[in-house]
Parts: sequence; structure tokens; C-alpha cells
Amino acid sequence: MDSILVKGGGELNGEIPIAGAKNACLTLMPATLLSEEPLTLTNAPRLSDIKTMTALLQSLGAEVTSLQGGKVLAMSSHDINNHKADYEIVRKMRASILVLGPMLARDGHAEVSLPGGCAIGARPVDLHLKGLEAMGAELDLRDGYVHAKATGGLKGGVVDFPFVSVGATENILMAATLAKGTTVINNAAREPEIVDLAECLIRMGAAISGHGTSTITVEGKDRLNGATHPVVTDRIELGTYMLVPAITGGSIELIGGRMSLVTAFAEKLAETGVEIEETQRGLRVSRKNGRVSAVDVKTEPFPGFPTDLQAQMMALLCTANGTSVLEETIFENRFMHAPELIRMGAQIDVQGGLAKVTGVERLKGAPVMATDLRASVSLILAGLAAEGETQVNRVYHLDRGYERVEEKLAACSASITRINGQ
Ligand code: EPZ
Repeated sequence: MDSILVKGGGELNGEIPIAGAKNACLTLMPATLLSEEPLTLTNAPRLSDIKTMTALLQSLGAEVTSLQGGKVLAMSSHDINNHKADYEIVRKMRASILVLGPMLARDGHAEVSLPGGCAIGARPVDLHLKGLEAMGAELDLRDGYVHAKATGGLKGGVVDFPFVSVGATENILMAATLAKGTTVINNAAREPEIVDLAECLIRMGAAISGHGTSTITVEGKDRLNGATHPVVTDRIELGTYMLVPAITGGSIELIGGRMSLVTAFAEKLAETGVEIEETQRGLRVSRKNGRVSAVDVKTEPFPGFPTDLQAQMMALLCTANGTSVLEETIFENRFMHAPELIRMGAQIDVQGGLAKVTGVERLKGAPVMATDLRASVSLILAGLAAEGETQVNRVYHLDRGYERVEEKLAACSASITRINGQ
């Protein structure tokens, strides 16, 4: 297993290009199952999760061709000859559940392994299943698989989510595009990745309104066409790299960044004393006057502060002047980066969904363990500002969501290298 070695040092300056969004691409790719015509995605990120979704779609009989070094994904689902999403693939990536709605909508039957939990929580899919049942699907949970049937096709229905779920909104939105009649999704997720999916489906001929609000309405169609769609910029990669100059000092321009993707996060980051300005090519973040100030953070569904930036923000607040309280409201176990940051000298007290962080002048480099995708990058951020060397182990977590992280940071004069495992 690879590790990444970071030598803490001075300010970082330069520019970092922001890639297409992993969490948009992972829902745009299954959308190919909704049409027999080709769907091509541009601005796709080069990540291991994309490779996993590619393998899953190919196992169903779809063609997925990676072009331009992975930035373009040319897909065709003309010949789907398998409707079973196998446990061996699904267990590697929970987003595999997103083939369920499209397969059911297209051919009226599907078998998808239940994804199981992951490091940050139990990650149930009950809302996905209840939503499909509200559209007439018959589901049988057996042997760790969802055996789904929709004889005569899915029917439009009213789907009331008791709380916001990104994935469940995506599954139901895709299924509804081919259902007979109108579907209304209440308490829908409002993330930019949902808006991006809706815009892609509309390009394919779907009739969708209200995306980006809590109520989405879909008029089902008999079929969808092919399309070409650019994957939206990755707001979580953007927010992650905005924290680099904040934690090391210096000034970095994030190429392709847009304030509208990170408003709540940017407001909170500005509260710490960091300067954020919009430029021709994206956003510039600068820290010129010493340590940042402590702030309190509470994660919420979009447009609130994103849970996917909580670990990274904690790394910054470990070096802030004062005490911060971070409240994680989305996942039940998303503070696993805390014990690793404590190994680097951070002062963090975790009680359930609350983490109290008392900033220290300087963290100390140490060998640490990545436990999940966003935790791994928070340890890299901490290492950039720490005294001495930090070795982050198990960086396969990192490669799921960040392309060429060493290259992007080294271009801003970070001292960072990858050590290939056995
Ligand atoms: C998506 O996961 C993202 N993943 C996550 O990013 C992100 O943290 C999450 O949304 C929240 O923004 C992808 O888009 C591939 P949810 P998802 O359904 O859809 C519970 C990353 O780091 N829930 O909005 O799985 C669930 O357990 C990843 O890139 C149910 O109880 O998240 C969680 O507590 C991590 N039943 C809460 O809802 C369900 O049927 C929100 O989950 C579904 C979810």
C-alpha cells in the first residue's frame, strides 16, 4: 500500500487546477443506462472510484471508453445483457447502488448487492428502496441483494424523504425520467451534483423542474436520447485546496473554482481571517497575517457547510488561535481523523457528534493512518503545516477522490512524495 511523505515547511504559493466532481461523475455514469444512445461525459476526474464505476457498468454490458487520459468517458448502453450488480464490485464503492434506479426504469428488473457500511457510518439505503416502492417497484431483500421488479414499468409517484439524502434523490430522479406519469420528490437534496445530474438528464430529453430546490418534479418519458455533458467542477476538491494557503500561509489561485459552489464553506473560511477573492480564472485564497482565528462549524446538507469538508477544516482549526467546536450532523462516525491529528500534537476532545479543537502554535510531523477519503487529505493538510515529516499511510483512500494530489501540491512548492508500497 502506498504512503505519502510530506515535509512541513513555509508558505505555499502558485495555482491548482480543480477537476470535475467525483460525486457528480459517479451519478452521471449510471445515467447512461437510461438510454440506448451514447452518453459522453467531458471534464471527468481521473480517480479510482471512476474506474470502479466503469468496471461495474461494463459488467452489466455497457461500453465505457476512457479517452483523453480519462477526461472523457464515452459510454453506450445499447446492449445491457446483465442486470446483476455483483457484491465483489459494489462492496468496493457504495455509489454502485446508483445503478438500481436506472436499470429498473429501463428494463423493469434489477439485482443489486446491498452496499454495506463504511468507515464513516452504517450508510443504509432504505430511502432509496422506499422511494422506488412509491413508484411501484416490488423489492425482495435476499442473500445481501436487492431483487427489484417493476412489471409494466415504474409509475410516477410522490416520494417524501424524511430527511435529505443525496444518493436517494439521485436514484429516484434517474428512475423517474422513464416512469409512466409524474413524480414529485419532496425534501430532495439540493447539492450542485444533483443540479448537474438534472441538467444532463434534461440534455438527454428528460422533463425535470425544481432541481436545486427541495421539490423536484419529473414528467416521465418513453425514452431518452444520448447527449454530451461536462461534469461540474468538484466543490470538495476546491474547498480542500482552498485550505492549503490557509494552513501554510501564502496565496494560491484555484483554477476553475466558483464561489457559488462553496458559499457556506467560503464564508466560514473568511471568518477565520483568510482572504478569498474571485478572479478571471477561479478563486484566489491568501493568508498573509499569521495564524487564523478559531470558528465554530456545523455540517448540514447543501447549501450548508459540507460534511465532506469537515475533516479538512478540522486540520486548519487545529492550528488556529483559540478554541473551535465542530458539529458533524450527517454521519455518525466521521471524526476518525481526530486521533491521527492528535498524534501530530493537536488538542481535540471528541464527544459524540461534537469535536472541541483548541488550536496549537505548530503541529509536529508523525506517521499517521488514513481511515477514509476525506480524513486522508486532512492529514496531508496538517502535514504541510507541521514541523518535520508526516507519513500518511493507506493512501488508497486518497486516490479515490483526489487526482494527482502530490503533483498539484508540489507545483505550489510543497515537499511531498509518494512512497510505493509493496
Ligand atoms: C453522498 O453520499 C456523497 N457520496 C458523500 O460523499 C457525501 O458525504 C454525502 O452524499 C452527503 O453529502 C457520493 O455522492 C458518491 P446521503 P450518500 O444519502 O448519498 C443517511 C465523499 O467523501 N441515509 O446524503 O451516501 C446516511 O447514512 C462521500 O465523497 C439513510 O439513513 O449520502 C447519512 O447519515 C462520503 N438512508 C445521511 O443519510 C438512506 O437510504 C446522508 O446520506 C440514505 C442515506
